[in-house]
Amino acid sequence: MAKIKILSESLVGKISAGEVVERPASALKEFIENSIDAGAHSIHIYVKEYGIAEIKVVDDGEGISQEDVPLAFQRHATSKIEKEHDLFNIHTLGFRGEALYSIAQVSKLRIITQHRNENSGTELYLVGGNIIEQKPAVTKGTTIEIRDLFFNTPVRKKFLKSPSTEKAHLIETVQNYALSYPEISFYLSIDGQEILNIPVAKSLMDRIAQIFGLEFIEKLKVKTISNYGYKIELFLGNEDLLRRNRSKQLIFVNRRPVKDSLIVSTLYKAFQIKDTHPQFLIFIELPAEAVDFNVHPAKKEVRFREPYKISQLIYRITESYDKPPVVSENPAAWRTDLTYSEALELNFSVQPSAYLQPSAFSLQPILELGNAIIAIAQKDGIVFLDYHAANERVNFEKILNKIYEQKIRLVFPQVINLNPQEYTLIRENLGILNELGIEADDFGQNSIIIRAIPDILKTADIAGIIESIAFTLKEEIGKPDFIDIKRKMAATMACHSSLRANDKITQTELKVLLEELEKTSDPEHCPHGRPVKKFISLNEIKKWFLR
Ligand SMILES: Nc1ncnc2c1ncn2[C@@H]1O[C@H](COP(=O)(O)OP(=O)(O)OP(=O)(O)O)[C@@H](O)[C@H]1O
Ligand SMILES: [Mg+2]
Repeated sequence: MAKIKILSESLVGKISAGEVVERPASALKEFIENSIDAGAHSIHIYVKEYGIAEIKVVDDGEGISQEDVPLAFQRHATSKIEKEHDLFNIHTLGFRGEALYSIAQVSKLRIITQHRNENSGTELYLVGGNIIEQKPAVTKGTTIEIRDLFFNTPVRKKFLKSPSTEKAHLIETVQNYALSYPEISFYLSIDGQEILNIPVAKSLMDRIAQIFGLEFIEKLKVKTISNYGYKIELFLGNEDLLRRNRSKQLIFVNRRPVKDSLIVSTLYKAFQIKDTHPQFLIFIELPAEAVDFNVHPAKKEVRFREPYKISQLIYRITESYDKPPVVSENPAAWRTDLTYSEALELNFSVQPSAYLQPSAFSLQPILELGNAIIAIAQKDGIVFLDYHAANERVNFEKILNKIYEQKIRLVFPQVINLNPQEYTLIRENLGILNELGIEADDFGQNSIIIRAIPDILKTADIAGIIESIAFTLKEEIGKPDFIDIKRKMAATMACHSSLRANDKITQTELKVLLEELEKTSDPEHCPHGRPVKKFISLNEIKKWFLR
């Protein structure tokens, strides 16, 4: 019996929509790209709820002619390419002719548009991709509006993250295009509240300042390099902008915001970066035929025809910085300056156990292997411990269960300026932040004020923690599950409060750490799930030597 069936038109539409429209921000991205391709000078965006209720984009671009309007919603209908050759020589953000088609499949869409050279325009209303109404209209540019996104694909709706995360993605989308198009003004409001209002900028640096603030740009060092018709401009943050996560690592290729592991890994290698993350913006311009954007359904990735040219230029640009931004790890020698009595105090008897007994390690056979890993001899084997991970587990539980010693009230409350995206995320989760011991309030104008912190964070960089929390909230939170968000925020805080790979740890500190670790709910794993220690038995070791 025949098994293969041709799928219905409506199912095909939903499959295509699934690839292009993952979340509200994906639809917004397509609208912004279309406005930019239409030569808009100003793009206004109005969002309701987190994009599910409504996204409206108003541009002053060239508009669509009356004849073309219905075509724009058909699959593979585009004004941007014609021949196969064009696919490898793309000068517009769009080229596949499927964005409007896909978005229309999963929403109720209204477009009002008039072509610059025509006297009258069109208003078109579609539900689930079907044209319901078409009538003449008079306007300038294009206004496109979707309501009830995913109304006919409820499963997709379930996969969305919390409203604050979805909002953060919407804001990030606008920020990204604003960064690559300083000559265009952008406005964004969510639920009637102005989030971004960015006038035309004179330079890229001015645009970066409009989004990330003056304080941020003061910490950037800019270098430019060109060769083979390629140009790379790197805005690299200094030591103050080093973070424990990959926030603010932005890549633009031919003015398109993308993710690219080649560029990031080359930068890390060139700067010999280990266990800390620099912030940077990198803008790469290269001939259209040297790059393929047709590799990802949402065009988030690129393929370079000659990747070695990119790596070579990145290496060269990094050489032009007098000092790498990152002090690479310097494994501290293990402390050997203990007095005889301290040594005796630590020299407990060893118990045969697969677990590391805090009171059961002896002084002599401890070896610092570097990168926060130490080896501790036991009678029946050897334990490898990642003391940074151990410390993180201990502090995570202290923060989560509020069992740190005290809260420190800041003599001068600290105002932290955030970018609009970070601000939205933090403001909407201030309650949880307070529960975790960081007393903070909304301070208006993209800033929050910190009044008190748990003592275990006293040496940490508070602004860095807040930024990292925002990053975690955007990248990682799953369902709008309170407990989950709280744990993730606590894990981020713990990471900042913990020893770093190149921090020295004394024998006494190690002893305390091990005692505290054994009291935690999961002494085997750090809060991010990485193992804390590994035991290799003497029997196993003997086998290596055929004994
Ligand atoms: N805001 C706009 N202003 C003017 N023309 C527009 C606008 N939005 C869409 N169009 C027209 O509608 C066509 C279809 O848009 P759509 O986004 O579906 O495809 P595309 O941009 O050509 O390719 P892609 O699917 O890669 O985005 C475009 O080629 C363009 O001619
Ligand atoms: Mg498009």
